[in-house]
Amino acid sequence: MGLKVAVIKGDGVGPEVVEQALKILELLDVEILEVKAGKSYFRETGRPIQEDGLDLIRESDALLKGPIATPTKGKTYPSVNLLIRKEFRLYANIRPFQSFPGYSLREMDLIIVRENLEGLYWGEEYLEDGRAVTLRVITEEGAERIVRKAFELAVKEGRERVTAIHKKNVLKKGDGLFLDVFYRVAEEYPVKADDYIVDAAAYRLVKFDNPFDVMVTPNLYGDILSDVAAGVVGSLGLCGSAMVGDSFAAFEPIHGTAEDIAGRGIANPIGTFLATAMMLDWLSSKDERAGRLSKALKDGIRYLLRERLVTPDLGGKLKTYQVTNHLLDFIRGSYGAEGRGN
Ligand code: IPM
Ligand code: MN
Repeated sequence: MGLKVAVIKGDGVGPEVVEQALKILELLDVEILEVKAGKSYFRETGRPIQEDGLDLIRESDALLKGPIATPTKGKTYPSVNLLIRKEFRLYANIRPFQSFPGYSLREMDLIIVRENLEGLYWGEEYLEDGRAVTLRVITEEGAERIVRKAFELAVKEGRERVTAIHKKNVLKKGDGLFLDVFYRVAEEYPVKADDYIVDAAAYRLVKFDNPFDVMVTPNLYGDILSDVAAGVVGSLGLCGSAMVGDSFAAFEPIHGTAEDIAGRGIANPIGTFLATAMMLDWLSSKDERAGRLSKALKDGIRYLLRERLVTPDLGGKLKTYQVTNHLLDFIRGSYGAEGRGN
């Protein structure tokens, strides 16, 4: 049985960058199940996601998605991003940030493990007598599973230290619970554990080389620190992301829809390639060829950046498809030879 991957191309530059990733997946006999969703699909059909979309995703081994927009004016609906996280219980958002010489502000080799379902994204808000109240819920169960995910990842990746990010000096109950769970669970793992206050952590990320190894964060802190870390890496276009649950995972670039350059063939596909490499790693337990392709893809991404075979946002001259062609040539040279069993 071959692998099945559900694909949402998304909005703005989404289709352009996701189509590049599909050219990489063609190197394995992966079956692609396309699911239409997002703002552009909503405008055509009045639905945010195709009717059997969630079933198609359920049938697949993983989901690869482009950025999906939610209308902010006029008729709107709950974000498809959040719908997918909730529906598939994708409670861990895993975001590696690695610097690339010549592109990054500082050296960085950080993994942010962000809680993805609770905190300020819990989804209960109300307006009453001139007060807007937003519930920020942290449960023991939610804190424990994300903290375990972070330590398990640290052990698997040979990392030395996991840092819990919080604002316990103000949010004594919510972040207090998160920290208590963190130090209780930390005792079970052979990895250093410490903690940092979120604002000071943001400062250190910008100010010093490699100030953190693995971070575990409640939802909104991780959202914001991800963009800070991406800025240090040099571009939102150089980062991929995984949303992982106990048995399913979705992968995406962390950049948005970039409507201003959509359709011009110059979108940077590297964030989507990094997300694809993460997906292939995750799929390697089902098909070991996926693991080998992931390795070749990661090497290929380094090669593109080293040789400046990049799009204009990174100072290059190439069109999106030309970046992919260079990458495919590189991969055929490494993985291709191995793939034939030589
Ligand atoms: C992200 C995005 C999402 C988030 C939005 C699109 C709901 O910013 O994945 O980081 O806030 O989680
Ligand atoms: Mn974000």
